[in-house]
Amino acid sequence: MTLADTLGRPLTDLRISVTDRCNLRCTYCMPAEVFGPDHAFLHRDALLSYEEITRVARVFVGLGVRKLRLTGGEPLVRRDVATLVASLSAIDGVDDIALTTNGLLLGRHAAALRAAGLSRLTLSLDALDEATFSKINGRGVAPGRVLAGLAAAERAGFESVKINAVIQRGINEHAIIEMVEHFRGTGHVVRFIEYMDVGETNGWRTDDVVSESTIVARVNDRYPLELVPPRVAGETARRYRFLDGQGEIGVIASVTRPFCRGCVRARLSAKGELFTCLFGATGVDLRSALRASSGDEALRALVHDTWRGRTDRYSEQRRAGEATQKVEMSYIGG
Ligand code: GTP
Ligand code: 5AD
Ligand code: SF4
Ligand code: SF4
Repeated sequence: MTLADTLGRPLTDLRISVTDRCNLRCTYCMPAEVFGPDHAFLHRDALLSYEEITRVARVFVGLGVRKLRLTGGEPLVRRDVATLVASLSAIDGVDDIALTTNGLLLGRHAAALRAAGLSRLTLSLDALDEATFSKINGRGVAPGRVLAGLAAAERAGFESVKINAVIQRGINEHAIIEMVEHFRGTGHVVRFIEYMDVGETNGWRTDDVVSESTIVARVNDRYPLELVPPRVAGETARRYRFLDGQGEIGVIASVTRPFCRGCVRARLSAKGELFTCLFGATGVDLRSALRASSGDEALRALVHDTWRGRTDRYSEQRRAGEATQKVEMSYIGG
């Protein structure tokens, strides 16, 4: 019997944050003024070990999870993520393992990740011009370094990579067409993300959001598009195909077109808390259950009961306003 929450949503995806650290400081995610040299990141022994992550993942797979995604912070700043991928891909029942990265360390790791069984990669890149991208990433990093990571991924055998671009009004709107022109026809799919009000530090305002309809209209003016039906229920991105056959783009419109109805994603923070929504305030402590000598049954019951009682649909309720303190995205992964 499938495990469903109070709105009938099954648990099929688990997103695992392996670290809260990152080598960039994107203004919309980990602004440098907040995540400065004195910021207290998690200590090593607070993090779940790879063995512990694998144990948790096995419990989730036993409850119906089929897709895993590794995130951060930046997952590749943690040592030897490929060994984790290898032990996750050995779990019976896992269909798909993906990783979200900023690409800077892919040159070093892409081949090992592929060999370990990673199925898919998602790369974050918000602009192709140096002035814009280096300002957004807060570390003065040039887009060429991300593109070099993408080239390494291609050499390692990742044929179709998803490229995520968060679009902010007045900051990188010009990147929409530039990225379309760069990636059309390459097999890689650019997905434009509406800027979201995750966490408490990015100073988000409704006016900063560029909506799906604006993004699609701008691309469609130059390169006509048609909407493609979703491949599976609960997809985050709405897909649009170029009429001239040069591939597709996606738009993740969590602000103007919330997709909570089909939300089948659980999130595991680096220190082992279970979040049932990206906009959650608190997580359920799985680490204590893991480290107690009670075995997997207690852990399984905790996950099961938490999902069973789940009511989250933050994006649908956003308009009503909220009062809770939200967790930072770098802490639980996108
Ligand atoms: P696929 O597995 O390829 O379908 O990827 P995905 O779209 O689930 O994952 P990805 O990490 O590429 O998600 C892209 C972005 O969509 C994230 O970085 C978030 O900004 C946003 N996103 C993903 N899941 C959710 C969600 O459950 N709620 C909201 N509000 N946004 C989400
Ligand atoms: N709004 C939308 N997307 C965000 N991401 C991080 N912060 C935000 C935000 N405030 C996305 C990044 C990256 C992924 C990890 O999450 O683009 O692709
Ligand atoms: Fe790091 Fe990704 Fe957040 Fe940028 S969006 S600060 S690359 S975790
Ligand atoms: Fe899922 Fe929460 Fe995002 Fe809605 S806002 S889609 S419930 S993670």
